[in-house]
Amino acid sequence: MPAPDILLEKLADDVLLRIRKRPEQPVSIATLAHRFGASDDAVRAAADLLISYGYRLKRKRDTLTYHSAPDCLLAAEITYGLKTKWLGHHIAAYNMVKSTNDIAAQMAEEGTPHGTIVTAEQQTKGRGRLGRDWFSPPGTGIYVSMVLRPKFRPDRAPALSIVTAVALADSVSNYCPGQVKIKWPNDLLLSGKKTSGILTELSAEGRHINHVVIGVGINVNQGSGSFPEEIRHLATSLRRVARHKINRVELLQLFLGHMEKEYERYLKKGLSGHAPKVRRYSSLLGYTVSVRSGKNVITGQAVDIDDHGHLILEVDQRRLALSAGEVTVVKSARPA
Ligand code: BTN
Repeated sequence: MPAPDILLEKLADDVLLRIRKRPEQPVSIATLAHRFGASDDAVRAAADLLISYGYRLKRKRDTLTYHSAPDCLLAAEITYGLKTKWLGHHIAAYNMVKSTNDIAAQMAEEGTPHGTIVTAEQQTKGRGRLGRDWFSPPGTGIYVSMVLRPKFRPDRAPALSIVTAVALADSVSNYCPGQVKIKWPNDLLLSGKKTSGILTELSAEGRHINHVVIGVGINVNQGSGSFPEEIRHLATSLRRVARHKINRVELLQLFLGHMEKEYERYLKKGLSGHAPKVRRYSSLLGYTVSVRSGKNVITGQAVDIDDHGHLILEVDQRRLALSAGEVTVVKSARPA
């Protein structure tokens, strides 16, 4: 399909905004044409374009009727009803990319504004932490990367993963109340299985941050058999736990709202503002855990997550603060 011209895209956006205000009610094509200074045929072409994007519209000779939007992360859908002040006001929405983090980093290098987001329906080389892959099939997950340009020092950037985890946990709780856990440092779990991951990447020079890209992957509507064999026992989706299909656009908008709020809280108060939620959501506190960092493994009881986001382990009656690592729960130390 050849790329639609920009004027037609703009007309399609205008027509969509107008007709979706009155779903199921026919709107006269001539009225739309008059309103937007276009010909009737141009409005019909705009309607065809919307239909090709997956919008359900009834297009008769003289009228257009809006039925529903596609289950798709289109920029117009993400924008429609988005209540943020700055996050997601600039959107690059793709169908298929290698990795939204790579595109976001490239756009950041080229000067895209603070708060830009990049989304994709599918990633062919979705990246996870520690060089792992992130399973990114089409049409069922959320793959989003945010470009931030904080003015603070680079050593404050890693904590943004925890800030993001809190925003994600609050968003997912909307669908699965009381069931969300954060596995330190920043994996989101439902029913003990991973449902979301965060990849924070920093570009800095000396004490100056050029940009931070925070990539978030959420398993939203995957069915039980859709994860590859090797991660099936480790991964789950919101749909499987909530037992109903989730509207991805709605979830993304909710997340962007929480993220903006939590980011601003971090600017004002550091992580101390998040600590109560981080503790409440934690899947580890009270358990004996092993934390692997490179070749080192430390085993102890997870007793706290401090205001710097460190996991506090009690080992032989001494307290150790850990800033990173892969955690495995060894056994429950909670009293029976
Ligand atoms: C992890 O838990 O290992 C982090 C997973 C992060 C995946 C997201 S999906 C959107 C963004 N683009 C990527 O290539 N990775 C992140």
